[in-house]
Amino acid sequence: MTKHLLLGQTLGFSGNPLTGNWQDAVQFDSAGGVLIEHGRIIATGNGAALQGAHPDVAVTDYGNDVISAGFVDAHMHYPQTGIIASWGKQLIDWLNTYTFPEESRFGDRAYADQVAGETLDLAIAHGTTTLTSFCTIHAESVDAFFEAAAARNMAVIAGKTCMDRNAPDTLRDTAQNAYDDSKMLLEKWHGKGRAHYAITPRFSPTSTPAQLQALGGLWAEHPTCLMQTHLSEQLPEIAWVRELFPQARDYLDTYEAYGLLGENGLYGHAIYLEPREIDRLKEVGAAVVHCPTSNTFIGSGLFDLMGLAKASLPIGLATDTGGGSSFSMLRTMAAAYEIGQLRGTALHPAQLMWLATEGSAGALKMAGEIGHLGAGAAADLTILNLQSTPAIRQRADRAGDMWDALFPTIMMGDDRAVRDVWIAGVRQSR
Ligand code: GUN
Ligand code: ZN
Repeated sequence: MTKHLLLGQTLGFSGNPLTGNWQDAVQFDSAGGVLIEHGRIIATGNGAALQGAHPDVAVTDYGNDVISAGFVDAHMHYPQTGIIASWGKQLIDWLNTYTFPEESRFGDRAYADQVAGETLDLAIAHGTTTLTSFCTIHAESVDAFFEAAAARNMAVIAGKTCMDRNAPDTLRDTAQNAYDDSKMLLEKWHGKGRAHYAITPRFSPTSTPAQLQALGGLWAEHPTCLMQTHLSEQLPEIAWVRELFPQARDYLDTYEAYGLLGENGLYGHAIYLEPREIDRLKEVGAAVVHCPTSNTFIGSGLFDLMGLAKASLPIGLATDTGGGSSFSMLRTMAAAYEIGQLRGTALHPAQLMWLATEGSAGALKMAGEIGHLGAGAAADLTILNLQSTPAIRQRADRAGDMWDALFPTIMMGDDRAVRDVWIAGVRQSR
């Protein structure tokens, strides 16, 4: 028997609830079903109707749990798992004090294997089925991550983080070997199973113009790859970029001038964008990634989600661990809600769930493949228990409707709210 039917409260989307009426974008069934076969969703709909049409399939009944597409984390740093929640620093100090010493350890393949496996297992435990990760300058760190993801059959995006200046000796490459190693790794991993390669200059302060140019050239040779980096995260960082690139019109121009602006570009943070930068990102169809727990934890600022959504930029949602302070996309949605409140917008739970699934998948140019509860998508699923702790249960018990029942889990939930995770149609043992 190869087909499997999951029953529960199904929540998916047929459109973008940030740009139109959120009600028009939601597909919710309080007695829904998801039929899977060979690692893919082959049908969704009313649970009883699907069961009637497929009477012989195996059934897992999740009752009142919510069946969602698995969460998609559009920007994180697996080598920073060990330094998550490190006290007292803002971006540049935080990089120098905590991040760079830890990342220096990833030339050790055994250590990289250990952290890659731990990170992916933590992600799964928190309901995340796709990670988009920076690695370190070491090729070993990239192999470790892709191998660990392949062992779990997870769709992942990752790349060697390139840095040839303003970093310790232990973490510097050159323009030429950033190009050579990235090319070698890309040829090895891009499109292999569920792996996708992202060309990864860390951010313009740690790359010389020669390195940015070399990576821009590599991207032109391999345009189906994503390109991920950081953009306009913190004010002292932006001032530093201005000093390092006096000829640039703005921060985005430090990428654009070297061939690092394109449709498959993913720009993390993007808090302090100039109008020209928004226009150019929009023109090329590039995506920005909102990392709300990181933005509050390292004191970066308040992302303008509604403004950028109205400007029609693709937007993903991400933990940015270990600058981000949680592995949980539920906690990440809660932080996005809190930042929205500080900017005067109460994001609806439908909008938050969309960002964590469809929004991130769209930013990664993988819409319909991941983050989607509909026929044809990979059967990467997260099942949420809306009563996972006494505090959440007592609030959910008095809920007036489905959103009121879900919102306490978004705001207060963690890995205990994740009842089950399915990856490519296989239930994960938890
Ligand atoms: N900017 C450059 N590198 C990093 C990083 O590792 N984390 C965050 N949050 N921002 C960065
Ligand atoms: Zn980052």
